[in-house]
Amino acid sequence: MTIAHTAHPLKVLQLTDPHLMASADGALLGVNTRDSLAAVIDEVLRNHGQPDLILATGDLTQDASSEAYRYFGEQLKAFNCPSLWIAGNHDDSDLLASIAAEFQAEQKQVVQGGWHFVMLDSSVHGKVFGELSPPELAFLDESLSQQPELPTMVCLHHHPVDIGSDWMEKIGLKNRDAFWQVIDRHPQVKVVLWGHIHQDLQQQRNGVQLLASPSTCIQFARGSSDFAVEPLAPGYRWFELEASGDYSTEVCRANEFKFDLDEKSTGY
Ligand SMILES: [Fe+2]
Repeated sequence: MTIAHTAHPLKVLQLTDPHLMASADGALLGVNTRDSLAAVIDEVLRNHGQPDLILATGDLTQDASSEAYRYFGEQLKAFNCPSLWIAGNHDDSDLLASIAAEFQAEQKQVVQGGWHFVMLDSSVHGKVFGELSPPELAFLDESLSQQPELPTMVCLHHHPVDIGSDWMEKIGLKNRDAFWQVIDRHPQVKVVLWGHIHQDLQQQRNGVQLLASPSTCIQFARGSSDFAVEPLAPGYRWFELEASGDYSTEVCRANEFKFDLDEKSTGY
């Protein structure tokens, strides 16, 4: 799907891992995930204003309920722009896709503002780790082959590199070599963006910027060998993308959001 170019730079908001639940009381380690998402949305509007595109990079729900997906779609009505949704390990990929379609958020690739966005489903039903199926890898290769000239951002849920955290190493993208073999054939890829790790991360690989971002609810402790959380505020990532391929990005947090995180938890 192609959307008409907007004024430059293109403003792109990443929201990731909101872990919403059917119940309005739904909480993760003591943090009400509806309240934290609301605080992040307020922060976006106060700090940056309206984006031109929203990338929602998985774990949209904790309980894979239709109520939670529809709640997410309703909250995004605070923004006057399209969104693209992909699944994480806590999601039901098929249900997510069908409800995303109700909110015109099911497209797997979009050209906007001179950039090409490709959304991949790395979720594996019933598993915490991720994997890109052969059709998904073929879709990636074909999409990138169709737009060789456009600066490109590829989004998925699971981390495709080692992030220096033992417990997370077991739950990343399993077939990452196959993923990078495709990416390496397409030098127009500028950014690979993911969720899942609930933390801000920046790395470089062969000239590609690798980025991960805070969750809109709880944050995992960076560099921890075992599961651990840390009491950082929920947040989001913002991009300003030029059609030339130049861009800037930053992570912002809803620092005024008050929460009582259960830091002793051994899992989520
Ligand atoms: Fe998550």
